Amino acid sequence: MTPDNVIETSGALILGGGVAGLFTALKLAPMPSLVIAGARVGRSGSSVWAQGGVAAAMDEGDSWESHLADTIAAGAGLCDPAMTSLLVREGPDRILDLVALGTPFDRDANGDLAFGLEAAHARPRIVHVGGDRAGAVITRTLATAVEAAPSITLMDGFHAVELALQDGRVVGVFAREGSGANGRLVLFRAPAVVLATGGLGAVYAVTTNPPESRGEGLGMAARAGALIADPEFVQFHPTAIAEGRDPAPLATEALRGAGCTLINEKGARFMIALHPDAELAPRDIVARAIHREIARGGRAFLDCRNLGQTFEQKFPTVYAAAITAGIDPAVRPLPVAPAAHYHMGGIATEANGRTSLEGLWACGEVASTGVHGANRLASNSLLEALVFGARAAEDLKNRVAGELKISGTLRHSVGPAAMLPPPKRLREIMSTHLGIERDAPGLNKALAGIAAIERAGAYTASLLNIMAVAKLAAAAALQRQESRGAHFRTDFPQTDANPHRTFIHLSEAERIAENASAVDTLTATA
Ligand code: FUM
Repeated sequence: MTPDNVIETSGALILGGGVAGLFTALKLAPMPSLVIAGARVGRSGSSVWAQGGVAAAMDEGDSWESHLADTIAAGAGLCDPAMTSLLVREGPDRILDLVALGTPFDRDANGDLAFGLEAAHARPRIVHVGGDRAGAVITRTLATAVEAAPSITLMDGFHAVELALQDGRVVGVFAREGSGANGRLVLFRAPAVVLATGGLGAVYAVTTNPPESRGEGLGMAARAGALIADPEFVQFHPTAIAEGRDPAPLATEALRGAGCTLINEKGARFMIALHPDAELAPRDIVARAIHREIARGGRAFLDCRNLGQTFEQKFPTVYAAAITAGIDPAVRPLPVAPAAHYHMGGIATEANGRTSLEGLWACGEVASTGVHGANRLASNSLLEALVFGARAAEDLKNRVAGELKISGTLRHSVGPAAMLPPPKRLREIMSTHLGIERDAPGLNKALAGIAAIERAGAYTASLLNIMAVAKLAAAAALQRQESRGAHFRTDFPQTDANPHRTFIHLSEAERIAENASAVDTLTATA
């Protein structure tokens, strides 16, 4: 790629203005960093949308061992025990960091942190802000601190499209400025690059994620040759409000923690027969149960009438979404359906956020640390961003210069970066064939469909990133001939005795995709 402008920085280059990116920059301070984001930080990205909160064993009587056991049980045999242990042991200190930054966590009558219950946690241990506004308030708090930090330079309005490599090492990022594929191409060169670009939900037709969560950070890293882990594991949130909106508004799991129940069109609580914890069973089990109610021609509803008039004050975000959909949840159950919500897979990282590429770190949802296994425990995602963002920052401290030097013309662009949405056909393929239930014919069809879109499409770097992500997820799902956590194969419903994580390069996914396309063509013509 030939850039129109080159910016050189002696600081760390951090891509992403969500919790992972902002917290990494703050933890790195006073060492310098340049943070690049698509839109004004604190106002966009999936962190802002997180309703659940942050899980941490801080309450009297709770322990990191209990949090560890719950995380590992939900992860269905695939959690990396050493990484998960770091997550739960370091979590409480990261919450105290947020308190010190001024995050107004919800408190009990004594002024102590209030802990809420969410699915598959043995006890209440989730800290919330303003009921269901944790993501928005935490991100805003971090953004305010970042804006005030002299060591951090913020640049928004840039859409990163490709990693810059030199002798196999990552030395920077190419980004388009402002609107559209023809925006000025800027090469940001830096001694260390941190990807904190979030997940891939928007590659699905039905998702709770904002449009910018389109997997491009993962796609860029994969195209540059990075090792990718567990891309087949996509978590579907059981209770998105099913009123035809894109993205689908989330009805937080904390509602079920507060006693709301799931009922079908006959008013029957279908989870009771399926799991001893009923509505508070692990997310994959609840999501599949709702999927099956809908697949048999029925419907699923979240019945929140137990909350009555307290709903609005306790869950203002969900209340507003329900009212917009014309439903008062205090008196009428909310129609719900599962939606793509969180990617457990990502760029393979070790304990300090290092990837397999020299010069490249990753943290937050774009990374796969191994702490979520096959099925993330509720409210462990912001925690992961905080714990591993801090660890990456510590590791970066001796990689960047103590004083920020930037050469080149650095200027703010006008307004958020414009990104074309992923092709509609791709989003349909992902939701149809890479959804809650998968099988070999569907996955072959998905890979053949992805190849057809690639053949027809303009080869912009951005599109190639998105297609790489889709290919990795579908190829790994085809290879995994078992059902585990969020990955359910109707043709391989058993869970293998020996759990194994997936580690894959894009080149291998491409080989699998070619074979799958050939199989699909043969099947179609037979
Ligand atoms: O249900 C929720 O509020 C989601 C929480 C999470 O994804 O961790």
